[in-house]
Amino acid sequence: MDILQVKALNKVYPGKVATHALTDIHLTIQKGEFVGIMGPSGSGKTTLLNMVSTIDEPSSGEVSINGSNPYRMKKNELALFRRRQLGFVFQDFNLLDTLTVAENIVLPLTLDRKSLSEMEMKLKQVAERLNIKDILNKRTYEISGGQRQRTAIARAIITSPSLLLADEPTGSLDSNASKVVMESLESINEKEGTTLMLVTHDPLAASYCHRIVFIKDGKLAAEIHRGDSRQTFFQKIIDTLSFWGGNMNEFSSVRV
Ligand SMILES: Nc1ncnc2c1ncn2[C@@H]1O[C@H](COP(=O)(O)OP(=O)(O)OP(=O)(O)O)[C@@H](O)[C@H]1O
Ligand SMILES: [Mg+2]
Repeated sequence: MDILQVKALNKVYPGKVATHALTDIHLTIQKGEFVGIMGPSGSGKTTLLNMVSTIDEPSSGEVSINGSNPYRMKKNELALFRRRQLGFVFQDFNLLDTLTVAENIVLPLTLDRKSLSEMEMKLKQVAERLNIKDILNKRTYEISGGQRQRTAIARAIITSPSLLLADEPTGSLDSNASKVVMESLESINEKEGTTLMLVTHDPLAASYCHRIVFIKDGKLAAEIHRGDSRQTFFQKIIDTLSFWGGNMNEFSSVRV
């Protein structure tokens, strides 16, 4: 079953000189897949994610999530659709500092007016999955970057979204915290069957994906699949990046 279908997608940002950020993108993601999006800075990765997450509208083409086109929905319908079907994880966590970890995580359920007992049950489940049970009563400034990102992921999956979208989730983390976050995403994918679309510059983070789509100058440039070995896939990612990316420094800019 297809969770995401992107057909003939174009995005032009108007301006004195218009930017053609995406050109004729076709992409299908099936249920349970873990797909990475890579490409040099400015290649259109965030733009693509924003079209899928309904943050910004395509100039032309189709986006279909779980069989429905979010751009044909009315405002209220769209808000509900986003809250129920999509999960978002960002580089800078987007947590509320005035709330505890637990309060941050259950926020989407509060908005949906779920009962207290349901919230507590779901909270327990996701906290266990992300291994953050011991910090639930802390404030976000009392925990590490990796714990913050795991909190953000817990909040994103507490509604059991059909599609979890992540833009550089390890971009602000050191390599150890990155590894824990990627292992968490891997376990959500494997144990909950959540479909994932991940934008990343980091070849090591990307090596957790099943498939990686490379974008260059707003166009699909290459696609590679992971076999059995993450180590071999990692090397394949590095090779593909150096072939398609030209300047490798562009890919590592976020990590320095
Ligand atoms: N809101 C906007 N208005 C005008 N141009 C934009 C806007 N957002 C992005 N662009 C342009 O569209 C192109 C693609 O940008 P995008 O942010 O998608 O790149 P990216 O691949 O995510 O890069 P990075 O790796 O640096 O995050 C760039 O040329 C960028 O300058
Ligand atoms: Mg980006």
